[in-house]
Amino acid sequence: MQTRTVQSRMDTEQSMSAPTGSDADAWWRSAVVYQIYPRSFSDLSGDGVGDLAGIIDKLGYLELLGVDAVWLSPIMRSPMADHGYDVSDPRDIDPLFGDLATFDELVRSAHDRDIRVTMDLVPNHTSDQHPWFTDALRSGPGSAARARYIFADGRGPDGSTPPNNWTSVFGGSAWSRIRESDGTPGQWYLHLFAPEQPDLNWENPEVLADLQATMRFWLDRGVDGFRIDVAHGMAKPEGLPDMAESVEILRHTDDDPRFNNEGVHDIHRSIRSVMDEYPGTFNVGEVWVSSPEEFAKYVRSDELHLGFNFALATVDFDAAQIREAVDTSLAATASVGAVPTWTLSNHDVPREVSRYAPDGDLATGISRARAMIMFELALPGTAFIYNGAELGLPDVDLPDDALVDPVWENSGYTDRGRDGCRVPLPWEGDEPPFGFSSTGDTWLPMPAAWRPLTVEAQLEDIYSTLSLYRQAIELRYARLEFSGDTVQWYGAPDGCLAFRRPGGLICALNASDQPVPLPPGQILLVSTPLEKGLLAPNAAAWLV
Ligand code: NOJ
Repeated sequence: MQTRTVQSRMDTEQSMSAPTGSDADAWWRSAVVYQIYPRSFSDLSGDGVGDLAGIIDKLGYLELLGVDAVWLSPIMRSPMADHGYDVSDPRDIDPLFGDLATFDELVRSAHDRDIRVTMDLVPNHTSDQHPWFTDALRSGPGSAARARYIFADGRGPDGSTPPNNWTSVFGGSAWSRIRESDGTPGQWYLHLFAPEQPDLNWENPEVLADLQATMRFWLDRGVDGFRIDVAHGMAKPEGLPDMAESVEILRHTDDDPRFNNEGVHDIHRSIRSVMDEYPGTFNVGEVWVSSPEEFAKYVRSDELHLGFNFALATVDFDAAQIREAVDTSLAATASVGAVPTWTLSNHDVPREVSRYAPDGDLATGISRARAMIMFELALPGTAFIYNGAELGLPDVDLPDDALVDPVWENSGYTDRGRDGCRVPLPWEGDEPPFGFSSTGDTWLPMPAAWRPLTVEAQLEDIYSTLSLYRQAIELRYARLEFSGDTVQWYGAPDGCLAFRRPGGLICALNASDQPVPLPPGQILLVSTPLEKGLLAPNAAAWLV
């Protein structure tokens, strides 16, 4: 078995002469990070929603999978309007998930198994139930309490038109009007997401001070890093000018005044200064910008350690698109000496099995998803895996009355939102809830068709998707051929890709509809058995 050591930060600090930058501190540069969506991972309390005790219970599974770290989507106190991305107390655990003592136990137990723990931070907005916001509602216009958020008077003689034309990413206007304490219609506040998620005013130094206090709170408890929500948000442009064109839903362009304003980079420098007090930690930002040059700015050496790169989560299963995504991403990070990251999916996008399934053909979708995880894990940099991808789960087509994502309601019931990729994980047994919970009344219904996809069904089957993930992660960890920061492309048949890492690993991907010959070398792993010595369509191979 692999032997890896999570050196405690105390050890690191004692043994280090330089403040930052030792190899041990930069463990995340080639890590495999597993995203846990806590509501959907494992429910030990039996209320149908996953919890921290459930995660502790499954740490053995994560060790078997071989991941270096977990990223927990938000677990802080929240009224759950956006399932945790609306935080009402950033320095406490929501009772739905457990408490601080259970969290401490999770960090301890994960570290005992050499698994690091990272968590979401949500600095762009709070919950409307955060005491700062309830205070702001009570206090009048111009008060210090209002100055923590973005309040403005409406336009028009009676102020009944929103201050500008910005739309919420979830649909509708990005502004909501409040009633002042005397009951009259009052000011408007900005929310780039749901109305229950008021945007903070990052011009106000209290906002940064509070985030830094939150970071230290968790870092002092042993957390190894953060995923920063809407890391391209926070800063707003002077005067809040109108958008050229009102666009909705997660479709960010670089000329969109709501996001990617220059002031965000100073905020990241201030965030980084706290991280640098804790060697061995890292942060990864959710950076939805389209230009590679703009992306690169976020991962300069004094800003984020890593930026999420959604290229592979958004391109088709198409060799030219995939190659372009890799080249562009590698060039962007190389331009500032940063580490590339890769991910095929997360809790906001459809699962790869469904994305790659032509006309709903899930068998093809699964083959392609298996090929793509091998492709992802062969690349240099940090790899992120969304929970359930290792089981080959598809999205679930949920009935209307099961949908709970705020996107569904906020879009006026036109966008079905993200619930389809958030259905709880199937662990064992023959029927829902498949060991996820002791109640069948899970927060999103689980399909009976997932019976062959449970962890139990896949664990001992060497051809299962779970076994493929385990073998691939193990090889990536153990083999020296996975070294080097670049990829060298080989000539490959039409619709195919092949590249070599400096250490000697060769990865071949067949995205065409014909079997193709493999590059020369000894095969380490294939995602689908060879067809008469040829690499099958929708398959990948590793060779040395
Ligand atoms: C991005 C998160 O990934 C998403 O789930 C959330 O709804 C928005 N940010 C708002 O916090």
